[in-house]
Amino acid sequence: MGLLSPPDSPFAPPSFLFTLIYHPVTSLFTFIHYLSLSLRGAPYKPPKNKIPIRVVCLSDSHSKIPAKAIPRGDVLIHAGDLTNNGTLRSIQQTIDWLKTMQKPWPGSADGFRHIIVIAGNHDSYFDERSRSAQDTRYPKRKLDWGRIHYLQHSSVSLSFPDDRVLKVYGAPQIPKVGGKEHAFQYPRGQDAWSNTVPDDVDILITHNPPKWHLDLAQNGGMGDEHELREVWRVKPTLHAFGHVHSGHGSESVWWDDGQRLFEEFLAKAYNKPAETLESHRLPLTELFDIPLWLLGFKCTAADIRGLLWTYLWGGARQGGFMVNGALTYRTTEKLRNNPRVVVL
Ligand SMILES: *[C@@H]1O[C@H](CO)[C@@H](O)[C@H](O)[C@H]1NC(C)=O
Repeated sequence: MGLLSPPDSPFAPPSFLFTLIYHPVTSLFTFIHYLSLSLRGAPYKPPKNKIPIRVVCLSDSHSKIPAKAIPRGDVLIHAGDLTNNGTLRSIQQTIDWLKTMQKPWPGSADGFRHIIVIAGNHDSYFDERSRSAQDTRYPKRKLDWGRIHYLQHSSVSLSFPDDRVLKVYGAPQIPKVGGKEHAFQYPRGQDAWSNTVPDDVDILITHNPPKWHLDLAQNGGMGDEHELREVWRVKPTLHAFGHVHSGHGSESVWWDDGQRLFEEFLAKAYNKPAETLESHRLPLTELFDIPLWLLGFKCTAADIRGLLWTYLWGGARQGGFMVNGALTYRTTEKLRNNPRVVVL
């Protein structure tokens, strides 16, 4: 891939230079938005006088075990794509690895207190429509989860010291990515999300990213817009997902005008009809997109109001975190990304 040519796969990020030349205005306002998010500090602080809870997020390990040890914590989340071929046997191999990281007994110093897993599109066994012929032939075979929680359109309340409880909900559905061997697919554009997540969840786990968040926005955003709307409705303290390997990372979310306008801005910049895509225009033409500039300034003004709110008025409102924990690096098959840790 040349530095100035578009990415060769929708899952591969364009080069920095490509983005800068074809999206100079978008790059500028994206930089300003993330700068203001980092100046604002942590969007959520654990309750005072209680022991903070460390949550370690991973996903997309695809039947491999990372070379580096997984960081220590209280909760371990695997947000799907445990395997490549999705057979019961390969899923069990990943479960067996995860089990080795659980506390052997409740008072033990080592290991995670709780481990939570959801399925990804590669984990075919979990969806009867995508199950392999081999697994269909032996329907009596079952997975051995031990004390790991598996969530599929279901929730669990986890207990911690100091009487803390976190409610976690998990959902695997994903806009279509491939053939029938992929699990839990629905046609892109269909609303598979509205009013599906309980109002009171603290942690939401999905395999698919919400639109415009850690979902490779530069390529038009592989996330789902209905999912984003549902996340806005519920406002979880932590939303953990994966699927889009190149979107790996963490983001602060404040559920305010700054965030809403930035999502609108990215939709305007990257969600384009085919005739206005990079391949059909000259470099730097974005500089003449006056409506995009105006929306960018609106977004920056909202971000500054948010900063002032946080610093001058103490900002009592709390936001949360979005985490794409994909361990697989971009379009390679190597586990080169690190797990992300969030403190709740
Ligand atoms: C599926 O993957 C597992 C783990 O990588 C491997 O042991 C198994 O042979 C694979 N099965 C098939 C049918 O490819």
